[in-house]
Amino acid sequence: MASFAATVNRMPELRASIAEHPQRFRVLTGERPTGRLHLGHYLGTIRERVRLQAQGVETFVVLADYQVIADRDMARNIRENVYEAVLDYLAAGLDPRRTTIFTHSAVPALNQLLLPFLSLVTEAELHRNPTVKAELAASGRALSGLLLTYPVHQAADILFCKGNLVPVGKDNLPHVEAARMIARRFNERYGKVFPEPEPLVTDTPELPGLDGRKMSKSYGNAIALGMSDDETADIIRRARTDSERTITYDPINRPGVSGLLATASACLDRAPEDIASEIGQKGSGALKALTTTAVNEFLRRHRERRASLDRGDAVALLCEGNARAAAVAEGTLNEVRERMGMLYDSLL
Ligand code: TRP
Repeated sequence: MASFAATVNRMPELRASIAEHPQRFRVLTGERPTGRLHLGHYLGTIRERVRLQAQGVETFVVLADYQVIADRDMARNIRENVYEAVLDYLAAGLDPRRTTIFTHSAVPALNQLLLPFLSLVTEAELHRNPTVKAELAASGRALSGLLLTYPVHQAADILFCKGNLVPVGKDNLPHVEAARMIARRFNERYGKVFPEPEPLVTDTPELPGLDGRKMSKSYGNAIALGMSDDETADIIRRARTDSERTITYDPINRPGVSGLLATASACLDRAPEDIASEIGQKGSGALKALTTTAVNEFLRRHRERRASLDRGDAVALLCEGNARAAAVAEGTLNEVRERMGMLYDSLL
């Protein structure tokens, strides 16, 4: 498997090639609708999608609702989370005429690719997948068949539209590797149908949460894109700092202060050390005030656009996106069945 460093090293060349020939690429990316989208999503992935769209790369975004039940019993608030995510995508500038946004469960032919793909992997390979192992450990539950086969249905997500470029976080890299392997094995066995998708990663560090830990809804340390200015002020006010008055950027020893500085830094596009020295002795009250203003200014336009949209816009967009994705998936599934000798509607 290519190392993370090797993958990152390849990025300048890949990005140059995307800029030069955007029409050669088709992006498939997505997320699990487990909660509201937050500032980390915006900075890490949503902005990148808008950039790719602006470059003229055709993009598919999956809201992977079936994946939500891979490591938990219940799919809570899925509809709500899906609609809210769609509103954030629209507010961020994804254009439904150029970007197909769809939900997993609404595209039967995509899901059906899972069966032939499962025949191309061994149980041992599935058990070795580092992301599956990590998610299993984090879930604290018995391994479900869906979690075990996660890389295979994620391969179906990517390959149903012949996506060849997959913007992902580091933790999803093994899944892209699995998709490449499945594409390769299918092509070897039945003739070339699928591209071998490439990951698109950034080496900029992830934005930590307000307490310096990984940003996550379950830690209560994430600023949701859809929060109001007051809710934002509130969650920042409640963030835990420390008793040291002088503000310094020190992520290891001062996670709270540094989480706030990292947040302000991302929104203001200024170095965190620089913001720290500007605040100096004024303490964490001043840091929180500055961070609140920075976040609310940064998200102002997003939130205005979001407020001008409603549930009906999200429903309409998904109906269209799901229909488009379903048509693409049926085309690919037919090709797959034809290669496997499983089309029965003609004498040829
Ligand atoms: N597994 C991804 C996540 O953790 C979401 C996802 C589903 C995805 N299908 C994908 C990402 C295909 C990239 C490509 O959020």
